[in-house]
Amino acid sequence: QSWKADTRGVITEIDAEEMGLVAMRLGAGRATHDDVIDPAVGLVVRRKVGEEVLPGEPLVEVHAATPEAAAVAMERLKEIVRIKDGKPFSPPLVLDVIRDAPSAAEGRAGAEEARSDSPADPLLAHAVAARATAYVPYSHFAVGAALRLENGDIVTGANVENASYGLTNCAERTAVFQYVTSPAYKAGVKIVELAVAADSEGPVAPCGACRQVLAEFCSPQTRVVLGDMSGNERATSVGELLPYAFGAAQMTR
Ligand code: THU
Repeated sequence: QSWKADTRGVITEIDAEEMGLVAMRLGAGRATHDDVIDPAVGLVVRRKVGEEVLPGEPLVEVHAATPEAAAVAMERLKEIVRIKDGKPFSPPLVLDVIRDAPSAAEGRAGAEEARSDSPADPLLAHAVAARATAYVPYSHFAVGAALRLENGDIVTGANVENASYGLTNCAERTAVFQYVTSPAYKAGVKIVELAVAADSEGPVAPCGACRQVLAEFCSPQTRVVLGDMSGNERATSVGELLPYAFGAAQMTR
């Protein structure tokens, strides 16, 4: 028996833990120590998050011991698999990078021997990892940003969208605001480099609002590395991104 989509849409969420519990209740796992596992039951999840589904398309195969058990599982699946209107999308492949942030010195040395499947600029790897924290239910366009500070600290951010679309905060500004509200900023520790990563067609370009915010907290010389998910990178600077920037100096009269 298969649980089928009843509308056209895109799978935005599958609760993996709940899915496991449904399989367990069918008898594919144990609720208590002495439960017996039934090798004939279980779930086959046919579709993934981000994929488009059509009405009547089988999404999850349910193998149950009785029709009643199958019915209970099907009922629960409706809540576990979220289907919404929208365009198909690919969720970020890298969810997190669990290792120490490379120091500035290691970073530069590492750049020379960078493998083709990892960003040449080590700060870009932090931006790629930060993408996983983006809140993007509307555009599904996850952007990650990472700042390297003078003391070697890495500060990251991702875009945070809103149902009132215009309130969206880009990744760059999330990272900058995180930095400005940290003790490092209070202590006078400056930003020395910014990296931004997105699944864009070529290196992602920061929006105008972010360029203005960057001009406030960086120097025109601050290095900026922009990347996409296919290994394309571009190095530039805050001054190059926003020449002739408006700043506090213009309000001194
Ligand atoms: N976005 C960023 O976070 N940074 C950029 O440089 C460009 C755009 C976000 C905002 C929105 O959540 C999504 O990308 C699509 O515009």
